[in-house]
Amino acid sequence: TTLLPFIEQMPKAELHLHIEGSLEPEMVFALACRNGLQLPYPDVASLRQAYDFSNLQEFLDVYYAGMAVLRTRQDFYDLTWAYLQRAQQERIVHVEIFFDPQAHLERGIPLATQIDGIHAALEDGQRQLGISFRLILSFLRHLSEESAFQTLEQAMPYLNRIDGFGLDSSEVGHPPEKFARLFARCRQLGFKICVHAGEEGPPDYVQQAVNLLQVDRIDHGNRALEDEALLVQLAARQIPLTLCPLSNLKLHVVQQLQQHPLLKLLQRGLLVTINSDDPAYFGGYLSANYRALLEHLPISREQLRQLACNSFTASWLPAEDKAVWI
Ligand code: ADE
Ligand code: ZN
Repeated sequence: TTLLPFIEQMPKAELHLHIEGSLEPEMVFALACRNGLQLPYPDVASLRQAYDFSNLQEFLDVYYAGMAVLRTRQDFYDLTWAYLQRAQQERIVHVEIFFDPQAHLERGIPLATQIDGIHAALEDGQRQLGISFRLILSFLRHLSEESAFQTLEQAMPYLNRIDGFGLDSSEVGHPPEKFARLFARCRQLGFKICVHAGEEGPPDYVQQAVNLLQVDRIDHGNRALEDEALLVQLAARQIPLTLCPLSNLKLHVVQQLQQHPLLKLLQRGLLVTINSDDPAYFGGYLSANYRALLEHLPISREQLRQLACNSFTASWLPAEDKAVWI
């Protein structure tokens, strides 16, 4: 249809992307080779075949195994640069990306190595590709509050290159309230915060994120749809939701895209955005997510435009920079 070029050409922001989730199988092999590492897969095709998940945890196991090839500053640079080049091709003009420092610290990779590589690529992307950025340090919720506080302590010398804090990994059994003191500290330090909530976890986790943690944004939030009072609150306060349709499909959060809650949430007046989450694992970057919606939902040109506008409204850009794109 005629809306395909419209999707490609709209200026877009991406607000929910794990940089380690943009690690393509080809790069896994290239970095394993460069770092002298053995992989438990004979070739790229057999690794890609392992990308068949029945839930979030099955994905996370493969995701943490894959990122183990990231060792040097250059590895983190190359990973980030590859994503930014893809982003530019899709007319993404602003990115707010997550990284998972604890997953690398556990493997003995210093925080400086991680941030030096990722941030240098983001700076080059701003200069050479015209893509503005924010960098979000995401804590792993399956680890302890103490581990998160230790990571925050270690991050102190680098906070000038961090814009906000997030929370990801295994959701059920690790409610936002487990990290209430941590995020209170992050907010006290003057940072934006967002947490994954309501992907697999119940609507109560979204409620905790909003009212206990006082997040600036919810990542996913699909299951907010199950709580009428919560929907009213999210709409009234225009708290953004970063939805990830292809991720939801691959992780069986929805059984079919036709059942995706996007249009219901949009019609209820929520500030929803479209994002790719972990594009190397879920079969598509940001434009592919928009195209999948167009193919499977009765979505209009005006709604597509609204979603792209929302991505800037929900961003952490200052108002004058948002105004350039909205
Ligand atoms: N880490 C990377 N992608 C994630 C997702 N979709 N949910 C929770 N943790 C993640
Ligand atoms: Zn995510």
